[in-house]
Amino acid sequence: MKFFVDTADTDAIRDLEATGLLDGVTTNPSLIHKSGRKFTEVIAEICKIVDGPVSAEVVALDHATMMKEAEILRKIADNVCIKVPLTVDGLKTCKALTGEGTQVNVTLCFSANQALLAAKAGASFISPFVGRHDDNGFDGMKLIEDIRLIYDNYAFATEILVASVRNPIHVLESAKIGADVMTAPPAVILSLFNHVLTDKGIEGFLADWAKTGQTVG
Ligand code: E4P
Repeated sequence: MKFFVDTADTDAIRDLEATGLLDGVTTNPSLIHKSGRKFTEVIAEICKIVDGPVSAEVVALDHATMMKEAEILRKIADNVCIKVPLTVDGLKTCKALTGEGTQVNVTLCFSANQALLAAKAGASFISPFVGRHDDNGFDGMKLIEDIRLIYDNYAFATEILVASVRNPIHVLESAKIGADVMTAPPAVILSLFNHVLTDKGIEGFLADWAKTGQTVG
């Protein structure tokens, strides 16, 4: 499963990139707002840090203006992936852009039928929001299972990008179901390293090492 980080914080992206874990980045208008930086500049900086797809979201709601915004965004770098909402105009834009060889991430997916529409429109990625689904009393991971089944039934090439990931269980379940990608905030990705027995093991080894009175080399 590919790991994308869901942030516009370039320092955090650089730190994660150094671990070799990072396959791409997702942003959204709220994350750009949080960064306090100019949209096109922050996307350009992220594209230099990471080789994989960097999702940059259009904010227009009509197809013609979405295409104009996408034109500006995709010129920033070859690895820009245009993010469009799951609406009629969003999918028109998806079809037009993927037809021209630009990667598209269809976002704000909350049903398996919506995911079916995005795949038929040729989306490179579909982003079902599991955390927000759970928050509203639905089963986010069941949504991923349903989309996996449908995409496998018809051999759709659209990659399932599990979004709105809030905890390590979302990551684990995504991998078990066979999602193609998950995107999570830096803190969630870093939390995957944690295990009390790893900490305890390091503590024990270092205590015994200190008793040897040696230094390495
Ligand atoms: C995905 O591309 C979205 O940016 C993101 O995962 C939304 O997550 P949230 O529901 O925690 O805001």
